[in-house]
Amino acid sequence: MRILTTALCAGILALTLVACNIRGFFISQTDDPVWNGPSEEQSAGDQNQSLGAKLFNKNCASCHQTTGKGITGSIPPLAGSALANSEDVTKPIRIVLHGFRGAIVRNGVKYNGVMQPWHSVFTDEEIAAILTHVRTSWGNTGGEVKPEDVARVREATKSRTTQYTEAELEQPL
Ligand code: HEC
Repeated sequence: MRILTTALCAGILALTLVACNIRGFFISQTDDPVWNGPSEEQSAGDQNQSLGAKLFNKNCASCHQTTGKGITGSIPPLAGSALANSEDVTKPIRIVLHGFRGAIVRNGVKYNGVMQPWHSVFTDEEIAAILTHVRTSWGNTGGEVKPEDVARVREATKSRTTQYTEAELEQPL
């Protein structure tokens, strides 16, 4: 009788464990041989990229398009833009912080629009992430923009109340 009870208990226990396992209770993604977890470095990069891409797609792409190509004749492209990719990172930062206006010519096409300032919409980290996305996407090679760069430009231009023109951006900050 005792042996029978023990066997029954063991059986129930085994069945319970099997049932739990079927529901994935003991299986985590790391047990899956196909799953390769990203390295810490990759995760940091992806997070940065996805914040910049997310904010860009939500706030900038309605005009500049998710492809960065803009709209010929009304919105200039960011793909291949000399200002966006400028070695002087203060240029794209000044544009995003305070906006941009006036007559310009891009790839032989005239534009004369106005872009709003974003200084009160985004933090330094967010502007850095958006511009890093712009400068590393669509074949652009401008590279990373750091939050410290944005903070520095924000401080140096804090009394500004109008959009930048192309001529003004030619002056170093
Ligand atoms: C409502 C439309 C609109 C939105 C939204 C917008 N822009 Fe613009 N952007 C413009 C226009 C228009 C110009 C050109 C202004 C002119 O004609 O002088 C421009 C110019 C630029 C330029 C200069 C490009 C060049 O080569 O001259 C950059 C860089 C830029 N925008 C970045 C951004 C970023 C980053 C965002 C999102 C935070 C953004 N823009 C959101 C309309 C927009």
